Amino acid sequence: MKALVLSGGKGTRLRPLTFTLAKQLIPVANRPILGYVLDQVRDAGIAEVGVIIAQETGNYVKDYVKDGSDWRMRVDYILQEPLGLAHAVKQARPFLGGSPFVMCLGDNLQGRGISNLVRRFEEEKLDCLILLKEVPDPQRFGIAVLDSGGRVTKLVEKPKEPPTNLAVVGTYLFSPKVHLAVDRIKPSWRNELEITDAIQEMINMGFRVKAEVLDSWWLDTGKKDDILTANQIVLDEYVRRDVRGNVEESTVEGRVIVSEGASVKGSRVRGPCVIGRAASIEGSFIGPYTSIGDSAQVVNSAI
Ligand code: G1P
Repeated sequence: MKALVLSGGKGTRLRPLTFTLAKQLIPVANRPILGYVLDQVRDAGIAEVGVIIAQETGNYVKDYVKDGSDWRMRVDYILQEPLGLAHAVKQARPFLGGSPFVMCLGDNLQGRGISNLVRRFEEEKLDCLILLKEVPDPQRFGIAVLDSGGRVTKLVEKPKEPPTNLAVVGTYLFSPKVHLAVDRIKPSWRNELEITDAIQEMINMGFRVKAEVLDSWWLDTGKKDDILTANQIVLDEYVRRDVRGNVEESTVEGRVIVSEGASVKGSRVRGPCVIGRAASIEGSFIGPYTSIGDSAQVVNSAI
Protein backbone atom coordinates (compact mmCIF):
# COMPACT_ATOMS: atom_id res chain seq x y z
CA MET A 1 0.00 0.00 0.00
CA LYS A 2 1.32 3.41 -1.02
CA ALA A 3 -0.05 6.87 -0.23
CA LEU A 4 -0.72 9.83 -2.45
CA VAL A 5 -0.96 13.08 -0.52
CA LEU A 6 -2.31 16.04 -2.45
CA SER A 7 -0.59 19.26 -1.58
CA GLY A 8 -0.98 21.26 -4.76
CA GLY A 9 -3.78 23.55 -5.87
CA LYS A 10 -3.95 27.31 -5.87
CA GLY A 11 -5.71 27.89 -2.56
CA THR A 12 -7.83 30.66 -4.08
CA ARG A 13 -10.44 30.19 -1.38
CA LEU A 14 -7.92 31.02 1.35
CA ARG A 15 -6.40 34.20 -0.03
CA PRO A 16 -4.59 36.29 1.13
CA LEU A 17 -2.95 33.65 3.37
CA THR A 18 -2.12 31.52 0.34
CA PHE A 19 -0.28 34.27 -1.55
CA THR A 20 2.84 33.31 0.39
CA LEU A 21 2.08 29.77 1.56
CA ALA A 22 0.54 26.51 0.36
CA LYS A 23 -2.90 26.06 1.94
CA GLN A 24 -1.79 22.73 3.38
CA LEU A 25 0.92 24.54 5.36
CA ILE A 26 -1.26 27.03 7.20
CA PRO A 27 -0.49 26.27 10.84
CA VAL A 28 -3.23 24.82 12.99
CA ALA A 29 -2.24 24.58 16.66
CA ASN A 30 1.21 25.73 15.47
CA ARG A 31 1.65 22.92 12.98
CA PRO A 32 0.62 22.56 9.32
CA ILE A 33 -2.45 20.40 8.71
CA LEU A 34 -0.26 18.46 6.26
CA GLY A 35 1.88 17.33 9.23
CA TYR A 36 -1.11 15.69 10.92
CA VAL A 37 -2.12 14.05 7.63
CA LEU A 38 1.36 12.55 7.25
CA ASP A 39 1.16 11.35 10.88
CA GLN A 40 -1.98 9.39 9.97
CA VAL A 41 -0.31 7.91 6.87
CA ARG A 42 2.68 6.82 8.95
CA ASP A 43 0.41 5.40 11.68
CA ALA A 44 -1.19 3.20 9.00
CA GLY A 45 2.27 1.72 8.36
CA ILE A 46 2.65 3.25 4.90
CA ALA A 47 6.24 4.16 4.07
CA GLU A 48 6.11 5.06 0.36
CA VAL A 49 4.42 8.38 -0.18
CA GLY A 50 3.95 10.52 -3.26
CA VAL A 51 3.30 14.17 -2.50
CA ILE A 52 1.57 16.14 -5.24
CA ILE A 53 2.83 19.73 -5.42
CA ALA A 54 2.07 22.79 -7.53
CA GLN A 55 4.58 24.97 -9.35
CA GLU A 56 3.72 28.04 -7.24
CA THR A 57 3.92 26.54 -3.74
CA GLY A 58 5.83 23.27 -4.19
CA ASN A 59 9.03 24.61 -2.65
CA TYR A 60 7.27 25.54 0.59
CA VAL A 61 5.92 21.99 0.82
CA LYS A 62 9.37 20.52 0.10
CA ASP A 63 10.96 22.71 2.77
CA TYR A 64 8.51 21.32 5.32
CA VAL A 65 8.31 17.62 4.38
CA LYS A 66 11.90 17.27 3.05
CA ASP A 67 12.68 13.60 2.32
CA GLY A 68 9.95 12.40 4.69
CA SER A 69 12.39 11.02 7.27
CA ASP A 70 10.74 13.06 10.06
CA TRP A 71 7.78 10.70 9.51
CA ARG A 72 9.97 7.66 8.79
CA MET A 73 8.73 7.52 5.20
CA ARG A 74 10.19 7.99 1.74
CA VAL A 75 8.68 10.85 -0.17
CA ASP A 76 8.59 11.35 -3.94
CA TYR A 77 7.42 14.73 -5.22
CA ILE A 78 5.08 14.86 -8.20
CA LEU A 79 4.44 18.18 -9.93
CA GLN A 80 0.86 18.80 -11.06
CA GLU A 81 -1.14 21.61 -12.61
CA PRO A 82 -4.44 22.07 -10.74
CA LEU A 83 -6.55 20.04 -13.17
CA GLY A 84 -8.45 17.91 -10.66
CA LEU A 85 -7.99 15.10 -8.19
CA ALA A 86 -8.29 12.37 -10.84
CA HIS A 87 -5.68 14.23 -12.89
CA ALA A 88 -3.37 14.00 -9.85
CA VAL A 89 -3.88 10.22 -9.85
CA LYS A 90 -2.99 10.14 -13.55
CA GLN A 91 0.09 12.24 -12.98
CA ALA A 92 1.19 9.93 -10.15
CA ARG A 93 0.87 6.75 -12.20
CA PRO A 94 4.64 6.19 -12.60
CA PHE A 95 5.00 6.49 -8.82
CA LEU A 96 1.96 4.33 -8.00
CA GLY A 97 2.71 1.53 -10.47
CA GLY A 98 0.40 -1.43 -9.82
CA SER A 99 0.08 -0.72 -6.11
CA PRO A 100 -3.13 -0.05 -4.20
CA PHE A 101 -3.02 3.33 -2.48
CA VAL A 102 -4.71 5.70 -0.10
CA MET A 103 -5.24 9.21 -1.40
CA CYS A 104 -5.43 12.01 1.15
CA LEU A 105 -6.12 15.68 0.62
CA GLY A 106 -3.38 17.61 2.42
CA ASP A 107 -5.80 20.23 3.73
CA ASN A 108 -8.32 17.70 5.07
CA LEU A 109 -8.09 15.86 8.36
CA GLN A 110 -10.51 13.37 9.86
CA GLY A 111 -10.64 12.05 13.39
CA ARG A 112 -10.63 8.39 12.52
CA GLY A 113 -7.22 8.00 10.91
CA ILE A 114 -6.40 5.60 8.08
CA SER A 115 -5.34 2.29 9.66
CA ASN A 116 -8.86 0.82 10.08
CA LEU A 117 -9.81 1.81 6.56
CA VAL A 118 -6.75 0.10 5.09
CA ARG A 119 -7.62 -3.07 7.04
CA ARG A 120 -11.21 -3.09 5.77
CA PHE A 121 -10.14 -2.31 2.19
CA GLU A 122 -7.76 -5.28 2.21
CA GLU A 123 -10.04 -7.72 4.05
CA GLU A 124 -13.00 -7.08 1.75
CA LYS A 125 -10.79 -6.93 -1.37
CA LEU A 126 -12.35 -3.66 -2.46
CA ASP A 127 -11.46 -1.55 -5.47
CA CYS A 128 -12.46 1.66 -3.78
CA LEU A 129 -13.40 2.68 -0.25
CA ILE A 130 -14.48 6.23 0.51
CA LEU A 131 -15.47 8.06 3.64
CA LEU A 132 -18.66 10.09 3.88
CA LYS A 133 -19.95 12.64 6.32
CA GLU A 134 -23.30 14.35 6.63
CA VAL A 135 -23.03 18.06 5.86
CA PRO A 136 -25.53 20.93 5.96
CA ASP A 137 -24.37 22.31 2.57
CA PRO A 138 -24.05 19.35 0.18
CA GLN A 139 -23.90 21.61 -2.91
CA ARG A 140 -20.23 22.30 -2.10
CA PHE A 141 -18.98 18.70 -2.14
CA GLY A 142 -18.93 15.39 -3.95
CA ILE A 143 -22.15 13.64 -2.82
CA ALA A 144 -22.87 9.90 -2.58
CA VAL A 145 -25.97 7.71 -2.74
CA LEU A 146 -25.75 4.31 -1.01
CA ASP A 147 -27.81 1.12 -1.20
CA SER A 148 -28.83 -0.77 1.94
CA GLY A 149 -25.62 -2.85 1.85
CA GLY A 150 -23.39 0.23 2.04
CA ARG A 151 -22.43 -0.01 -1.64
CA VAL A 152 -22.13 3.28 -3.46
CA THR A 153 -24.66 3.45 -6.29
CA LYS A 154 -24.11 7.01 -7.43
CA LEU A 155 -21.74 9.95 -6.98
CA VAL A 156 -22.17 13.54 -8.11
CA GLU A 157 -19.76 16.45 -7.81
CA LYS A 158 -21.22 19.61 -6.28
CA PRO A 159 -24.84 18.91 -7.34
CA LYS A 160 -27.30 21.80 -7.57
CA GLU A 161 -29.98 19.46 -6.27
CA PRO A 162 -28.19 17.04 -3.93
CA PRO A 163 -29.75 13.56 -3.74
CA THR A 164 -28.39 13.12 -0.17
CA ASN A 165 -26.35 15.15 2.30
CA LEU A 166 -23.51 12.60 2.44
CA ALA A 167 -20.35 14.42 1.39
CA VAL A 168 -17.19 12.69 0.19
CA VAL A 169 -14.47 13.29 2.78
CA GLY A 170 -10.87 13.73 1.56
CA THR A 171 -9.62 10.19 2.26
CA TYR A 172 -9.94 7.58 -0.53
CA LEU A 173 -8.58 4.05 -0.96
CA PHE A 174 -8.08 2.61 -4.43
CA SER A 175 -6.96 -0.58 -6.12
CA PRO A 176 -4.98 -0.07 -9.36
CA LYS A 177 -8.28 -0.48 -11.26
CA VAL A 178 -8.88 3.22 -10.64
CA HIS A 179 -6.48 3.97 -13.51
CA LEU A 180 -8.83 2.24 -15.99
CA ALA A 181 -11.62 4.55 -14.84
CA VAL A 182 -9.47 7.70 -14.86
CA ASP A 183 -8.62 7.00 -18.51
CA ARG A 184 -12.30 6.94 -19.44
CA ILE A 185 -13.53 10.20 -17.89
CA LYS A 186 -13.69 13.67 -19.42
CA PRO A 187 -13.04 17.03 -17.74
CA SER A 188 -16.00 18.53 -15.85
CA TRP A 189 -17.60 21.97 -16.25
CA ARG A 190 -14.74 23.42 -14.14
CA ASN A 191 -12.27 21.78 -16.54
CA GLU A 192 -11.05 19.31 -13.93
CA LEU A 193 -10.80 15.53 -14.03
CA GLU A 194 -13.04 14.85 -11.02
CA ILE A 195 -12.31 11.95 -8.69
CA THR A 196 -16.07 11.55 -8.14
CA ASP A 197 -16.45 10.94 -11.91
CA ALA A 198 -13.66 8.36 -11.78
CA ILE A 199 -15.33 6.56 -8.86
CA GLN A 200 -18.69 6.70 -10.67
CA GLU A 201 -16.94 5.13 -13.66
CA MET A 202 -15.58 2.38 -11.37
CA ILE A 203 -19.18 1.68 -10.27
CA ASN A 204 -20.33 1.61 -13.91
CA MET A 205 -17.53 -0.83 -14.74
CA GLY A 206 -18.77 -3.17 -12.00
CA PHE A 207 -15.86 -2.73 -9.58
CA ARG A 208 -16.30 -3.06 -5.83
CA VAL A 209 -16.88 0.43 -4.46
CA LYS A 210 -17.92 0.85 -0.83
CA ALA A 211 -18.28 3.69 1.61
CA GLU A 212 -18.24 4.23 5.29
CA VAL A 213 -19.98 7.03 7.14
CA LEU A 214 -17.47 8.80 9.35
CA ASP A 215 -18.48 8.79 13.02
CA SER A 216 -15.85 11.34 13.99
CA TRP A 217 -14.93 14.92 13.14
CA TRP A 218 -13.81 16.10 9.71
CA LEU A 219 -11.86 19.27 9.01
CA ASP A 220 -11.53 20.77 5.57
CA THR A 221 -9.51 23.96 5.87
CA GLY A 222 -9.39 24.36 2.09
CA LYS A 223 -13.12 24.90 1.97
CA LYS A 224 -15.43 23.93 4.79
CA ASP A 225 -13.91 25.07 8.04
CA ASP A 226 -12.18 28.22 9.07
CA ILE A 227 -8.80 28.12 10.70
CA LEU A 228 -10.21 28.96 14.14
CA THR A 229 -12.55 25.95 14.09
CA ALA A 230 -9.66 23.77 12.97
CA ASN A 231 -7.47 25.21 15.74
CA GLN A 232 -10.11 24.36 18.34
CA ILE A 233 -10.64 20.75 17.20
CA VAL A 234 -6.94 20.02 16.79
CA LEU A 235 -6.10 21.48 20.22
CA ASP A 236 -8.86 19.38 21.76
CA GLU A 237 -7.74 16.24 20.00
CA TYR A 238 -3.93 16.32 20.07
CA VAL A 239 -2.67 18.44 22.95
CA ARG A 240 -1.25 16.48 25.88
CA ARG A 241 0.35 18.37 28.73
CA ASP A 242 4.03 18.91 27.98
CA VAL A 243 5.82 21.76 29.69
CA ARG A 244 9.38 22.16 28.42
CA GLY A 245 9.91 25.90 28.43
CA ASN A 246 10.60 28.05 31.43
CA VAL A 247 7.66 28.79 33.77
CA GLU A 248 8.09 31.37 36.57
CA GLU A 249 5.54 32.70 39.06
CA SER A 250 2.75 31.46 36.83
CA THR A 251 -0.08 28.96 36.82
CA VAL A 252 -0.29 26.59 33.88
CA GLU A 253 -3.51 24.58 34.09
CA GLY A 254 -4.60 21.51 32.14
CA ARG A 255 -3.51 20.36 28.71
CA VAL A 256 -0.89 22.91 27.80
CA ILE A 257 2.21 22.61 25.63
CA VAL A 258 4.92 25.08 26.54
CA SER A 259 7.47 24.46 23.81
CA GLU A 260 11.23 24.47 24.19
CA GLY A 261 12.76 27.90 24.65
CA ALA A 262 9.39 29.50 25.53
CA SER A 263 9.06 31.52 28.68
CA VAL A 264 5.97 32.14 30.81
CA LYS A 265 6.36 34.76 33.57
CA GLY A 266 3.78 36.17 36.00
CA SER A 267 1.00 34.72 33.84
CA ARG A 268 -1.92 32.32 33.88
CA VAL A 269 -2.34 29.78 31.08
CA ARG A 270 -5.42 27.55 30.81
CA GLY A 271 -5.50 24.66 28.34
CA PRO A 272 -6.07 23.31 25.86
CA CYS A 273 -3.44 25.61 24.52
CA VAL A 274 -0.05 25.59 22.82
CA ILE A 275 2.76 28.08 23.29
CA GLY A 276 5.32 27.97 20.48
CA ARG A 277 9.09 27.76 20.58
CA ALA A 278 10.87 30.80 21.98
CA ALA A 279 7.55 32.57 22.60
CA SER A 280 7.40 34.85 25.58
CA ILE A 281 4.33 35.38 27.77
CA GLU A 282 4.58 38.00 30.48
CA GLY A 283 1.93 39.32 32.89
CA SER A 284 -0.80 37.83 30.73
CA PHE A 285 -3.76 35.47 30.68
CA ILE A 286 -3.90 32.89 27.89
CA GLY A 287 -7.29 31.17 27.79
CA PRO A 288 -8.45 27.80 26.41
CA TYR A 289 -8.21 27.06 22.66
CA THR A 290 -5.37 29.45 22.02
CA SER A 291 -2.28 28.83 19.90
CA ILE A 292 0.60 31.22 20.40
CA GLY A 293 3.04 31.04 17.50
CA ASP A 294 6.81 30.52 17.65
CA SER A 295 8.72 33.59 18.83
CA ALA A 296 5.52 35.55 19.58
CA GLN A 297 5.60 38.01 22.47
CA VAL A 298 2.53 38.60 24.64
CA VAL A 299 2.86 41.27 27.32
CA ASN A 300 0.20 42.48 29.81
CA SER A 301 -2.60 41.06 27.69
CA ALA A 302 -5.50 38.62 27.85
CA ILE A 303 -6.10 36.26 24.96
C1 G1P B 1 -12.85 17.93 -3.58
C2 G1P B 1 -13.65 16.80 -4.22
C3 G1P B 1 -15.02 16.63 -3.54
C4 G1P B 1 -14.84 16.42 -2.04
C5 G1P B 1 -13.99 17.58 -1.46
C6 G1P B 1 -13.65 17.35 -0.01
O1 G1P B 1 -13.45 19.17 -3.85
O2 G1P B 1 -13.81 17.07 -5.60
O3 G1P B 1 -15.69 15.52 -4.09
O4 G1P B 1 -16.10 16.36 -1.39
O5 G1P B 1 -12.75 17.71 -2.18
O6 G1P B 1 -12.97 18.47 0.48
P1 G1P B 1 -12.59 20.46 -4.34
O7 G1P B 1 -11.71 20.85 -3.18
O8 G1P B 1 -11.78 20.01 -5.51
O9 G1P B 1 -13.59 21.51 -4.68
